[in-house]
Amino acid sequence: MGFDTIITNGTVVTATDTYAADVAIEDGKITAIGKSLPRDAKKVIDATGRYVFPGGIDAHTHLDMPFGGSTSADDFETGTTAAAYGGTTTIVDFAIQYKGQDLRTAFDTWMKKADGKAVADYAFHCIMTDVPAARLEEMNALVRDGVTSFKLFMAYPGVFMLDDATIFRVLQQTSKNGAMVCMHAENGGAIDVIVQQALAEGKTAPKYHALTRPTSLEAEAVSRAIALAEIAGSPLYIVHLSCDDALQKVREGRDKGLPVYAETCPQYLYLSLDNFDNPGGFDGAKYVFTPPLREKWNQEKLWQGLKNDHLQVVSTDHCPFCFKEQKELGRDDFTKIPNGGPGIEHRFSLIYSGGPAAGRFSINRFVEIVATTPAKLFGLYPRKGTIAVGSDADIVIFDPNREHTISAATHHMRVDYSMFEGIKVKGMPDVVLSRGKVLVEGDKFYGRAGAGEFIKRATYSGA
Ligand code: URP
Ligand code: ZN
Ligand code: ZN
Repeated sequence: MGFDTIITNGTVVTATDTYAADVAIEDGKITAIGKSLPRDAKKVIDATGRYVFPGGIDAHTHLDMPFGGSTSADDFETGTTAAAYGGTTTIVDFAIQYKGQDLRTAFDTWMKKADGKAVADYAFHCIMTDVPAARLEEMNALVRDGVTSFKLFMAYPGVFMLDDATIFRVLQQTSKNGAMVCMHAENGGAIDVIVQQALAEGKTAPKYHALTRPTSLEAEAVSRAIALAEIAGSPLYIVHLSCDDALQKVREGRDKGLPVYAETCPQYLYLSLDNFDNPGGFDGAKYVFTPPLREKWNQEKLWQGLKNDHLQVVSTDHCPFCFKEQKELGRDDFTKIPNGGPGIEHRFSLIYSGGPAAGRFSINRFVEIVATTPAKLFGLYPRKGTIAVGSDADIVIFDPNREHTISAATHHMRVDYSMFEGIKVKGMPDVVLSRGKVLVEGDKFYGRAGAGEFIKRATYSGA
């Protein structure tokens, strides 16, 4: 008997090529790609009329994360299950170092959260919140263990925010150990002043979360972060970029030839300040995340940024909190609404619909944005992020014509609302494989909690 599985008659799409071919799988790896491969496999999947994409990589998720007096509603089982339904087969989540802790404690804590639960593969960035000299040294040990990126915050004073000197020291360290800094870029100090003034004026509704975080304070922080990274000689990845003002700063950095990269998220491409216009007022809590939603005109600027490679990645920043009991914690004060929104399930379809299906960019650019570039930037390539002989058989057989209306009534995330409720997408994953095993076929789930493995990542290789 030949292959374990063969995917026949599909159109293989990578970041660079589109071609008709069969894909053969043995022991979880792609072992052959070619025309009319032998059919003597244990399982044959006919992909006629469909694309064969590499599995999606979501480089920004927060599963089972304590935050704002609550814990994000998806754990590693429900979160990776929902991800798989949507065509994402690898996530990079965040292990948080709390004040006084060493980095190893953060890593161990998040490894325990995922162990036995994840249905698909996972890796970790480490969030650093407390950085005496010993922690700088310790970064190197984490890098050796496959945690090759560190998130720093320029926002959330008193909780996560680091000062510029500390950020600069970390960047100097990553310039030596090859790791990537992922930056939450907002000027937290100035925002805090505006927030306190708003509260003093009785402005407590959810929309004030957005109105107290101006775009220029995101742009300022992006610009400062780039300057610090340039002087330190380190690459830099801006997370969850939300607006054109910040995009222009990334563009300037890249135009200077600096190794600066940025992701945006589906919420900034599809939603806007208009989502706060609702009769009850508090419904807007569903859209409280950071950075906030922006004026609608920013959306097209971000799409064009993706097209023109001023932005390189779309991740979800999936950080779900139920409306009932979690978002409701902030009914009388927007600062008490847990920050974050659910998005892990629909990234692939939303970006396919708004990208290639809408004529904005090619299917190859789509693959680059949702799989190949995150794999390269975060040390997963070529094991993941492409369809190639020797790569993990993480594969999405995608029907470009299947339509779907996103709704909390049908989604698989463990959260009681959808940010994208009622949005129609064109293009849906039909079959999703992780290391050669079918996780999802149509509506049916075949995955198993614990089947997902921790992936030790290499260091950044440029993209
Ligand atoms: O509101 C957000 N984005 N919550 C998750 C934490 C973060 O800053 O990424
Ligand atoms: Zn952030
Ligand atoms: Zn986040």
